[in-house]
Formats: sequence, structure tokens, C-alpha cells
Amino acid sequence: MDKKTAWTKKDLLGLEYLSREEIELILYTAASFKEVTTRQIKKVPTLRGKTVVNLFYEPSTRTRTSFELAAKRLSADVINIEIETSSVKKGETLIDTGRNIEALKIDIIVVRHNCSGAPNILSRAVKARVINAGDGWHEHPTQALLDMFTLKSKLGRIEGLNVSIIGDIAHSRVARSNIWGLTKLGAKVTVCAPPVLIPVGIENMGVRVTSDIDEALGDADAINVLRMQFERDGLTAFPSKLEYFKQYGITNDRLKKCKKDIVVMHPGPINRGIEMSSEVADGKNSVILEQVTNGIAVRMAALYLVAYAKEAAK
Ligand code: CP
Repeated sequence: MDKKTAWTKKDLLGLEYLSREEIELILYTAASFKEVTTRQIKKVPTLRGKTVVNLFYEPSTRTRTSFELAAKRLSADVINIEIETSSVKKGETLIDTGRNIEALKIDIIVVRHNCSGAPNILSRAVKARVINAGDGWHEHPTQALLDMFTLKSKLGRIEGLNVSIIGDIAHSRVARSNIWGLTKLGAKVTVCAPPVLIPVGIENMGVRVTSDIDEALGDADAINVLRMQFERDGLTAFPSKLEYFKQYGITNDRLKKCKKDIVVMHPGPINRGIEMSSEVADGKNSVILEQVTNGIAVRMAALYLVAYAKEAAK
């Protein structure tokens, strides 16, 4: 959050596509918007006259709500499209939906989609800015940015930290975005899961790979514990939820063997008693609700930067 560079990207599609300086710029910008969210009147006129559309093809509590709040804190107008009652149900394609929304003179589309790459396709079809709010197994850039923002707030730095990402790596866009972001900022990343939940070739992303939970926890300054994605076949090759919890679940007994001030993160929603115990989720090392709060400032930064990108429309 120390460096400044110019933001030139029309869209925010993934951390794979950003430089270290661009990631640092988002975190730096988020730090100033965080101050706004603590004021009595939590509103600035930065996006007055702009319109943000939330287009979520998958369920969401945290991301959608915090994008809406972030846009409102910046004085933008916000439209939430309910997919269930939209013309998507009549077969309208993503591109047609995007072009028709754009014809209504909106400025930014925040899209969540079950298909990896959907935001990339949309961004090529419209002049409006596109922000990826999670696409399939691919990326969830603002989640990783808020995770890194929280880490930096708690531990003062990202560079040199040992961060272990534990759980359903195979289906996780959060894992991928965190790996891109953390490694670009100089953290040492370990991914830990049962072998069936580790994607082939993940080591090529510059991470240590292990199925040994003690190895993943041993030197960790922070852990990011992932949700088991039952809707995407998580755990189908594992004997049972109880067995998973016994082998990989984060408990107070496991935390006792870790660094005393280890930071415990989870992107939510938590499956309590599967990925971690309630004592850990609600315990003194947990920053899970701080992550949610920080999501507003990070998304304010993302909306602001793409809205006023120097190198804008195609
Ligand atoms: N972390 C996250 O993406 O949560 P939601 O699915 O509730 O948005």
C-alpha cells in the first residue's frame, strides 16, 4: 500500500493479468476508502452519475452485498439483476444480456458466473467496465484482494509471509486468485489438500504442494481455509465429511501447534465442523468477519479504478 502507479485496465478480470504494482495500487486505494467506511456519513461523491449493475448467475451473500454497498458508498446508482426473474430464463445469452444492459447506458457490470472465463467473454462484448465477482473454478480477484488487504492489516506486510491455503483447491477460484496475488507480492504459498483435491500442475504456479496438514501448518503465518464445494463435486472422492474433518479440519488442538499469532482466514460461507471447528471460526485468531468488512473498501477501490481507468474504452 506504499506504491502508486496509474491504473490503465478497462476491466478487473483476474489477478493473473495484473502486475505487482497494479495489485499494490488497489490495496493502497482500498486503504484510503477504508477510512471512508469508518466515518459517521460513509459516503463520497466519487461515482456520482455512474451506474453499476450486479449480474450474478450464482448465489452470493458477501460479494454481491459488499459490491452494492461499495457502489452506494461511492454514490453510484446500483441495479441488481435477479437471474431467476430475468430473460436469462428465456434463453438470452450472456453477450446479449450484457449488450442490452449496456444499451441502458450503464457504466460497470459486476459479474459472477458458473463458467470459467465468462467475465472475459463479456468484457470483449461490451464497452462498459467489467469486474469479475467469481467465475467457475477460475478466479475471484476481489476476494483475494480483500484477503491480502486483511493480511497486510494484521501482519503489516505480505512479502516473505508463509501463507497456507488449505482445502478444496481443485474447485477453488479463491485459491487461484490468492496464489497469483500472494506470489506476485512475494509471499511463500503452500497449498494443502487430500491428493484428489489438488489439481494437476498446480506446482507450476510457484507454490509448495502437500497433503500433510502438519507440514502446511508448521511454518504458517496465516492460513486461508477453503470451503468444501459440494455443488462442484468437492469431497466426492473422500470417504466422508467426518473423515475429512479428522484429517484436514482446523481445530484448536491443531492451532496450538502453530505460531501463536497465526491468522486464520476463510472466504465464506463456512461449513462448520468440516473445514474448521466453530471454536476456530469464532476464536481469537480468526479474522473471517474482518475479511468481510474489508471487502467493502477493496470493492470501492476496484469500482473507482476501473471507472476512471486512463486507458478506457476499446
Ligand atoms: N466469499 C464469497 O465469494 O462469498 P459469497 O459467495 O457469499 O459472495
